[in-house]
Amino acid sequence: MTLLALAVSGRGIVDPNAPSVFADDEAFLRGRGAFETLRVYGGRPFLLGAHLERLEASAARLRLPLVEVASLRALVEDALEAAGLPDCVVRIYWTPGREVDPQPTAYVLVRDVPDDLEELRARGLSLFSVLVGEVSGLLGGVKSTSYALNMVAVDEAKRRGADDALFLGSGGVVLECPTSNTWWRRDQTLFTPSLDLGILAGVTRGAVVEVATELGYEVAEGVYPMENLVTADEAFTTSSVREVMPVVAVDERPIAAGQAAQELQIGLRHLTGG
Ligand SMILES: Cc1ncc(COP(=O)(O)O)c(C=O)c1O
Repeated sequence: MTLLALAVSGRGIVDPNAPSVFADDEAFLRGRGAFETLRVYGGRPFLLGAHLERLEASAARLRLPLVEVASLRALVEDALEAAGLPDCVVRIYWTPGREVDPQPTAYVLVRDVPDDLEELRARGLSLFSVLVGEVSGLLGGVKSTSYALNMVAVDEAKRRGADDALFLGSGGVVLECPTSNTWWRRDQTLFTPSLDLGILAGVTRGAVVEVATELGYEVAEGVYPMENLVTADEAFTTSSVREVMPVVAVDERPIAAGQAAQELQIGLRHLTGG
């Protein structure tokens, strides 16, 4: 993974290999910052509007200053031009700035697409379940820079020989993965946990609901035990970076393979213009 370009509000394009964040920025000190990650296909940031809307919503819930959407769009364009790579990953950060004299600051980072995605898609993900309990209503569904739990859960899953973690809520209900939403299929119905559980409203999840409906699937959102996922006809995750990724096992229990994940991946790629 390479950081190809970095743009900072008020400064423009800066050296991606030089320090650029103040040590007393609250996003660093306490993890109170909002962020987004999205893919760029053929030079076009995919569903940028939806990501910026979610950034605004996260910032409001974190009680950060209002996101300056128009200048952020311009910053994304500048960063993409500086990176010069038509297919890449953009990360947008919105921080409150320094403790003394706070100035909200945006950072736009451009990096290359992870090179193992198609290999992962071909073999499918194995998941390791992690009980996290109830998501606090105060910050449920917010994409904040407090991702330590998510990242440690991925590390723990890998230490146990899996690829990724699966978060379970109170009573063992399925929530989401640390950086993606979860889905499974039974016959022609696709199931995915309800946003009422405090999970992130994935932009890809929203796009996949549309694609699935067009393909003739029913989509059901609710509160489901893990057993439903493990005994499904097939399972998969969705996220901006990994798109639609089949799941082949949870806690070493194999899950059947199916066609829906592949159909949805093709349908999603159509939406991207690819
Ligand atoms: C916790 C969590 N759930 C779900 C997702 C998937 O969201 P999206 O489809 O917008 O990438 C992400 C992605 O960042 C995430 O961090």
